[in-house]
Amino acid sequence: QTCILIGAPVDSGKERRGCLMGPDAYRVAGLTEALEGLGHHVQDAGNLRPRPAVTPGEMPNHVHEPAETIGWTEALAGAAEAAMQEGLPIFLGGDHSLSLGSVAGVAMDAARRDRPQFVLWLDAHSDYHTPQSTASGNLHGTPLGYVTGRDGFHGFPEVKAPVPEENICILGLRSVDAAEREVLQASRIRYADMRAIDEAGIARPLAAFLEDVAKAGGALHVSLDVDFLDPSFAPAVGTTVPGGATIREAHLVMEMICDSGLMTSLDLVELNPFLDDRGRTAQVMVDLTASALGRRVFDRPTHSFAYE
Ligand code: ARG
Ligand code: MN
Ligand code: MN
Ligand code: MN
Repeated sequence: QTCILIGAPVDSGKERRGCLMGPDAYRVAGLTEALEGLGHHVQDAGNLRPRPAVTPGEMPNHVHEPAETIGWTEALAGAAEAAMQEGLPIFLGGDHSLSLGSVAGVAMDAARRDRPQFVLWLDAHSDYHTPQSTASGNLHGTPLGYVTGRDGFHGFPEVKAPVPEENICILGLRSVDAAEREVLQASRIRYADMRAIDEAGIARPLAAFLEDVAKAGGALHVSLDVDFLDPSFAPAVGTTVPGGATIREAHLVMEMICDSGLMTSLDLVELNPFLDDRGRTAQVMVDLTASALGRRVFDRPTHSFAYE
C-alpha cells in the first residue's frame, strides 16, 4: 500500500524541548527504506508547519503554548483528512499534542465515508485531560479529551466528528492523574493497565478490540507513544515511566494489528532524539512500524508443536 509520511515537529505540547527533531530521526533511522523493503510505496510529504494562531482569552494561564498547539491542530487536521484520500498516513512526531489534529482529521474522513472511527492508544498515560483539568499545563496530556469532544478547548477547531468513547482502547497504562482517573472510569473508553496486561497478557484485550473494529467495518487509528515501551528499551522520551511494555509485547501488538488488516493511520509520538542513546529508540520505533506493516520472521509457522 501507499504510506504517506507526514513530519509533524510539534514541540509545544510540553515544556521539555526536543520532539521537534523526531521526524528527522525517523528518517535517519531508515523508516522509508524499511517500508519500501516490505513492498510498500512510500511518499515522504516532508514536514508540516503550524498555522498562525492567537492565544484564546478563556485558556487557563498555566497552559503551555496554547496558540502554537492550536496552529498545529488546524494544520494537522487538514493534512490528515487530505492524506486519507491518498493512502495510509504515518504522522512522525513531535509530541503527543499532534494527535489532537491527526485524530480529528482522520475521524472527519471516516465520517464522510460513513465509517466508524476507532482509536488504539498505546501509552503509559491516558492523555484524557482538558485544558482545565491538566495540572501540568502540558497539552500533550489532552488529545483523547479533545477528540472525544470534552469541553474547554477554547480557540481550538471545533471537533466535528468526535470519536465515540466506546471506540477507544488504551493499552499500557501506568500513570493516570486523579482528575483523569475519575472521568476515565466513568467513560466507556476501554483500557488495560500494566497490571491487567501482566495478568492476562496483552494479546487478549487487543484481540477483543480488533474484533470489534472488524465487526463494525471501522477505520483504525493507532497512536504509539514512545513511553508505552519500558524506558530500558526506549529511553528517548521526556515522560519515562518504569514498568512498560517489552519489545516482545510491543512487536506482538504490531503484528496483530498487521494481521488484522485494519489499520488506516498511525502516529509515532513523543520521541525526543536529544535524550536518545545512539539512536536506539528511533530504531525501535521504526522496527515496530515495520512490524505493523508486514515485517515478520515467517509467513506462517514452519513447524507445529503438539503441546497436549
Ligand atoms: N498526565 C500527565 C500530564 O498531564 C502526563 C501526560 C503525558 N502525556 C504524554 N503524551 N506523554 O501532564
Ligand atoms: Mn515549549
Ligand atoms: Mn501520550
Ligand atoms: Mn505517554
